[in-house]
This record gives sequence, C-alpha cells and structure tokens, in this order.
Amino acid sequence: MHINQAVEAPYFPRVVEAVREKLVFLIGFFRNPTAMGSIFPSSEALTNKLVKPIKLSNTPTGRRYLEVGAGTGAVTESMVKKLSRSDRLDVVEIDPTLCSLLRKKFRNYSNVRIIEASVMDLKEIPYDGIVSSLPFNQFDAKFVQQVFDKYRKMMKESSFLTYYEYKYPRFLDKIFLERNRRLEEIYQLKKAVGDLLKEEKESVWFNFPPANVRYLTK
Ligand SMILES: C[S@@+](CC[C@H](N)C(=O)[O-])C[C@H]1O[C@@H](n2cnc3c(N)ncnc32)[C@H](O)[C@@H]1O
Repeated sequence: MHINQAVEAPYFPRVVEAVREKLVFLIGFFRNPTAMGSIFPSSEALTNKLVKPIKLSNTPTGRRYLEVGAGTGAVTESMVKKLSRSDRLDVVEIDPTLCSLLRKKFRNYSNVRIIEASVMDLKEIPYDGIVSSLPFNQFDAKFVQQVFDKYRKMMKESSFLTYYEYKYPRFLDKIFLERNRRLEEIYQLKKAVGDLLKEEKESVWFNFPPANVRYLTK
C-alpha cells in the first residue's frame, strides 16, 4: 500500500493554498528567472508522468528517491502519493523561500527530507530514482554536463532518472542567435546522455508550456 494517500483538506482552503503557491512560484520567477525557468508550476498531467517509474516497494528497507528542484512542490506531491511505507524521499531545492514553503507543506511526512542546497552540493549517495525539474535549457552547457555527471554517479544499475523540458525551445529562442548556440550545445549534451543511458520520451500537452518527459535508465 502507498502510505501517503493523504487526507485532503476541504475544498476552499485547498483552492486558496493553490493560488498562494502559484503566486509564490511567480514571485520566485521574478527573483531568479534562470533558476526557476518557468512562470507556472508543473501540471498534474506532467507530474504524474514524471513519477511513473516509481513502483511499489517490495523490500523491508524500502527505496530511496531524490527530487531535484522542487519549487512549490508540485512534483513532490505526486511523488509522496507513490511512496511505500519504508521508502524515503530527499528533496533538494536551492531557493530558501521555496524551502520554507516545502518544509511546511510536507511537515507531516516523516519519510520526506527537504534539503536547502544546490544539487551540486549533495553527497553522492546512491538513489533508486531521481526526478529532476531543473530547467536545463536555461543553464550553461558546462553546468548541465556537471549535473548529468552527478546524476549518473548517484544512479545504481536499476535506478531511473526522469526529467522534462518544454517543447519547441528552438522556435521560441529563434530571435536570440547567441542563446540558440548555447541551446544547441545543451541538446548535444542531452543526446550524449541519452546515448549513454537507455532513454524513452513521452509528450505532455496538458501543461503550460507543453513538455517532453525523458525517462533514462542505466
Ligand atoms: C522549473 S522549476 C520546477 C518546480 C517544480 N518541480 C515544478 O515542476 O513545478 C525549477 C526549480 O529548480 C530550482 N533550482 C534551480 N537550480 C537549482 C539547483 N542548482 N539546485 C537545486 N534546485 C535548483 C529552482 O529554484 C526551481 O524551484
């Protein structure tokens, strides 16, 4: 049984909280557009796809998962619903304001740990699965390479890595030639990672903007 099918709050407070979170996300974007990479949190259609590889644990010690770039916790919410009693989830988020929100939001989940840090400062312990929401297309290629190297070190033979990217970034960025060149480097890099690990791709249209989810395994 997944333990975290939490008791839902009544409808009205839930709506108010959802609106407040969207505002916090938007303010986060204005504080640091590169790190946030989006003005809206991910839709449920997208978060459900991202957590698809999480399976019911059949071991007493459980599985250990990592979420990177939690924002206001849209993906975390979908992840906790799929955790088994003995599973653990480490959530790393760089923005202190968002970390406060996450700590409050997931305070009742004893198997969830919020880590206020950059992914690059994490200890390289092995995880059974990594779900990454980092906006890779916003970063420079060198950093993206370092993050993928780090993810690979934290993956075991049976681990998975999922991440997403918005569709048609080349089209959106056509007007900025310099940016396009940087994006090309990132695509080559992602392709190289996709060649190294086994990769599958799924589209999510019910998200703003629509996105591709990438599933990688060793
Ligand atoms: C596109 S948002 C995703 C938020 C959320 N997971 C969602 O899907 O709605 C990216 C998040 O990654 C965080 N982030 C950016 N760089 C980071 C880093 N180096 N380490 C950890 N988190 C980072 C940002 O603060 C932001 O909350």
